[in-house]
Amino acid sequence: MNLSTSNIKILGTGSFKPDFVALNEDFSKTAGLETDDDWITSRTGIKQRMFNCGENATNYNMSSKAAERALKAAGISADDIDIIVASTATPDFFYPSLACLVQNAIGATNAFAIDVSAACTGFVNALDIVRNYLANGSAKKALIVSGEMLSYHTDFTDRATCVLFGDGAGAIVLEATDSPKLYAAHLGAIGEKFDEPALYCKVPYKCNSPFGAKGENFGAVNHVDYIQMDGRAVYKFASDIMPKTVKSVCEKAGLELSDIDLLIPHQANIRIIKTAMKNLDIPEDKVYVNIEKTGNISSACIPVCLDELYELGRIKAGMKICMVAFGAGLTYGAVIIEV
Ligand code: ACO
Repeated sequence: MNLSTSNIKILGTGSFKPDFVALNEDFSKTAGLETDDDWITSRTGIKQRMFNCGENATNYNMSSKAAERALKAAGISADDIDIIVASTATPDFFYPSLACLVQNAIGATNAFAIDVSAACTGFVNALDIVRNYLANGSAKKALIVSGEMLSYHTDFTDRATCVLFGDGAGAIVLEATDSPKLYAAHLGAIGEKFDEPALYCKVPYKCNSPFGAKGENFGAVNHVDYIQMDGRAVYKFASDIMPKTVKSVCEKAGLELSDIDLLIPHQANIRIIKTAMKNLDIPEDKVYVNIEKTGNISSACIPVCLDELYELGRIKAGMKICMVAFGAGLTYGAVIIEV
């Protein structure tokens, strides 16, 4: 297998954005939060985010809808799919996996199904996994679905985190083709210490054994199941790793930065994106940003952007698209794919 080419083709994309829109003004009206549109917009670039609320508000529901839309755009049926890889940091269950729930919902009876856990980098990791299955011939058609329900893990009394995140899902269908196209990936992780991660959401485990100290929390991290973040540490990591990762993946692909037609960065913060772009000297019109409307939807950011770009008619055959992400773990990764 040639490392800088691959025989994969995007057949279709889909996304799902919940109906409920929370504006910055909705947060500024919330008693006790003491925030405002000016602070949120100037520090993050976010104006609104969507929350999946009400009946059937589950991750798998959003993800299944995004998957169905991607299948429709691809013009294939669910039972043509050989592999489903789902990425999520906010699954409905520890098990069954999100991928298995989506498989059942869409009726992809011939697929095997697995989840990837790499926080906001999950989609990029999933794409590289799928690429390997397609390239080595063990699958012909694949579905990647990235779904996130960050609102279920957000402390809405914590102004430092609650304004940042939203819910949503994105999906893509890929197939193996006979004509190799440019492809490269650069993936990495800097595993954090258990008791001092910069970004985490802890499983609310308690020792439940009748033979031990029943009810006691184990582990040194606070017993919370909300997103906890050292914003400045994440900011520093992201601003440094994003440009480095884009440079590394270009090197692997044998490309100059100027050869990239479109760059889709993880949508965590407009200031992080702008800092990275300045470092890379990539013109703004080559960088796709939708954070203003969606907030940070973790691993769903990039596939949702991809779907919007197809919808806008901005993706043309032969383009070289670079997708770059960073996330809890800490994880990071970029992929260049020729479409
Ligand atoms: N409204 C008003 N004031 C606020 C808010 C808010 N929503 N949130 C924090 N503040 C206050 C703080 O309390 C602090 O007040 P103080 O000076 O009185 O203590 C002040 O604003 C400055 O706080 P900082 O944390 O220093 O603000 P900063 O400029 O670093 O911006 C932010 C915070 C936006 C979170 C920034 O650090 C950031 O973007 N970090 C990256 C985090 C990120 O992108 N996470 C993404 C999640 S993970 C992922 O996607 C991989």
